[in-house]
Amino acid sequence: MIKLSDVSYSYLDNIAALCDVNLEIKKGERVLIIGSNGSGKSTLMKIISALIYPLSGRYFYKDREPNLKTLKKNDVHFLVRSEIAYLFEDSDSQLFSPKVYEELIFGPKQLGLSDSECKKRVEAVVDMIDISDLLSRPSYTLSGGEKKGCYIINTDIKS
Ligand SMILES: Nc1ncnc2c1ncn2[C@@H]1O[C@H](COP(=O)(O)OP(=O)(O)OP(=O)(O)O)[C@@H](O)[C@H]1O
Ligand SMILES: [Mg+2]
Repeated sequence: MIKLSDVSYSYLDNIAALCDVNLEIKKGERVLIIGSNGSGKSTLMKIISALIYPLSGRYFYKDREPNLKTLKKNDVHFLVRSEIAYLFEDSDSQLFSPKVYEELIFGPKQLGLSDSECKKRVEAVVDMIDISDLLSRPSYTLSGGEKKGCYIINTDIKS
């Protein structure tokens, strides 16, 4: 399902973050990636989420390759965005709506779901993590843990 082949990445041309990483994750497998600070875990997750692309080597999700060329066509990126959730270390990087409810419904709307399906998904997650009292709050007023909980809805909750 997820395959990296000799993937390398560096920031600003000279800060090496990943060097020739090979990784294969099959459907149904659960994988824990551990490593010291600065060892490249977040960079790896950003590549898997197609937020950045390998500078060398190749990354495949379900045998398709998200990269700058396929970005124009959008379909492989849509697939990755709708099936892979990336929880930023700093929640403030990804919360931008005026109120929690708008934050929650943003993800499902971007997936092109109907209004009723979007509302259904928001309600399901609000019930699941019991945050009905937060819906009318501005996102920036939430606690660190509450902010991270709110982002979960932005993925396909069926998968
Ligand atoms: N935006 C950036 N610009 C420049 N260098 C970066 C950037 N992000 C990460 N790095 C560098 O890339 C390397 C890998 O960083 P990365 O964030 O992937 O590590 P990590 O394993 O997630 O660390 P941590 O456990 O501290 O979260 C480190 O040397 C880091 O300093
Ligand atoms: Mg990290």
